[in-house]
Amino acid sequence: MSNPASPPAVDVLDERPGLTFPPGFLWGAATAAYQIEGAAAVDGRTPSIWDTFSHTDGRVLLGHTGDVACDHYHRLGDDVALMAELGLKSYRFSVSWSRVQPGGTGAANPQGLDFYRRLVDELLANGIEPWLTLYHWDLPQPLEDAGGWPARDTAARFADYTTLMADALGDRVRYWTTLNEPWCSAFLGYGSGVHAPGRTNGADAVRAGHHLMLGHGLSVQALRAARPTAEVGVTVNLYPVDPASDTPADADAARRIDALANRFFLDPLLRGSYPEDLVADLSTVTDFAHVQDGDLAIISAPLDQVGVNYYSRHVVAAPVEGGEADPAPSCWPGSEDVRFVTRGVPVTDMGWEIDAPGLVETLRRVHDYTDLPLYVTENGSAFVDTVVDGEVDDVERLAFFDAHLRAAHEAIDAGVPLRGYFAWSLMDNFEWAWGYTKRFGMIHVDYDTQVRIPKSSAKWYASVIRRNGLAAQ
Ligand code: FCB
Repeated sequence: MSNPASPPAVDVLDERPGLTFPPGFLWGAATAAYQIEGAAAVDGRTPSIWDTFSHTDGRVLLGHTGDVACDHYHRLGDDVALMAELGLKSYRFSVSWSRVQPGGTGAANPQGLDFYRRLVDELLANGIEPWLTLYHWDLPQPLEDAGGWPARDTAARFADYTTLMADALGDRVRYWTTLNEPWCSAFLGYGSGVHAPGRTNGADAVRAGHHLMLGHGLSVQALRAARPTAEVGVTVNLYPVDPASDTPADADAARRIDALANRFFLDPLLRGSYPEDLVADLSTVTDFAHVQDGDLAIISAPLDQVGVNYYSRHVVAAPVEGGEADPAPSCWPGSEDVRFVTRGVPVTDMGWEIDAPGLVETLRRVHDYTDLPLYVTENGSAFVDTVVDGEVDDVERLAFFDAHLRAAHEAIDAGVPLRGYFAWSLMDNFEWAWGYTKRFGMIHVDYDTQVRIPKSSAKWYASVIRRNGLAAQ
């Protein structure tokens, strides 16, 4: 029943059937090291590209940095206790490379490793499966100084770091993700420059994308060698890309963006080749001479699972004929003029259109590439939250999760082997170029006091986990 006095997002929950997920469905929540840990210069950690970037004027909104963040480094026990209260079956976190291997080469830092050992042990003691992401965007600064991801050697360094982590934690961590969202590392980091390290060169972005995937492949080899029983995968961020109209020009714009956003990664990783149309689209940007014989075989080595991060859909239109080119550096090299169109549907506080059916499409698409088990390794939304009498009633975030879980269930019904779902995020945190101004957490964080308050969405998610599904509405 719709009540004009209540916010529309609540109405969305009305009159929906209950749904049960398959037994053993892995219910989780995710975070990333630089976004929550703080302790940036503690116990031997050295700067990553995100430390440098956030400390550079004008790069992050309001000059925010991850120096303290959620101070998770010092609050690990309390934070795992909150996870246990939620009933999480799994927790996806990332390792700060420069904490465990300062500088990105050479010997391990025992204090850094000890932090992750304590985290993993605490998780296991609470019956929570640790899910470890090796790289969530925080390249050690000296490796960037030596060329960063556009340099081939960075891939080899990533493999060495993987071995170090597999030796240290492979006995107690079963699920491993090599990279989080290589599209963002490559195209936001080296193309538009809105993410660290903030470089703006289309050819470098394409090279970075390739070397990230090569690093992934070498990392898979390193994990297999050190820990044959590990469940190894990679996490990509995917978007359905729709043309704004049925004109051939808009269809071509959608094809181009789909190639850069999705197939740039899916095809090499899961099919062992770059799409021909992508290579043609990029011909004015790069000749792909950085791709060496054998690379694609390494990149497409068999995996155990694929992680999908899903947030929204892109709708695009052909460039305006005779229009002026936008001079801003682009994360779409070779297709800079394609226009991104908004449809006027509800958006989150990031301005991202809310599109739950897009999750079904995305999961089905990945399943068309592979029969591997799939996991939604991130899905969530930023909204403006208010603390009232010590509570945060985040109805819109709750409705977002509900809608996307229904979509996840629909994908399972359609035959997609979806084995788990990780809410982004466990708690509010440093949202990259947006600093602390965007809140994605199920747990509210007061950055002055570090007090945590589980929001309504957290309590609701706990009930979803308890019943392994959604109650009828
Ligand atoms: C994803 C990132 C994650 C977070 C969410 C909102 O692209 O992987 O760290 O910033 O977006």
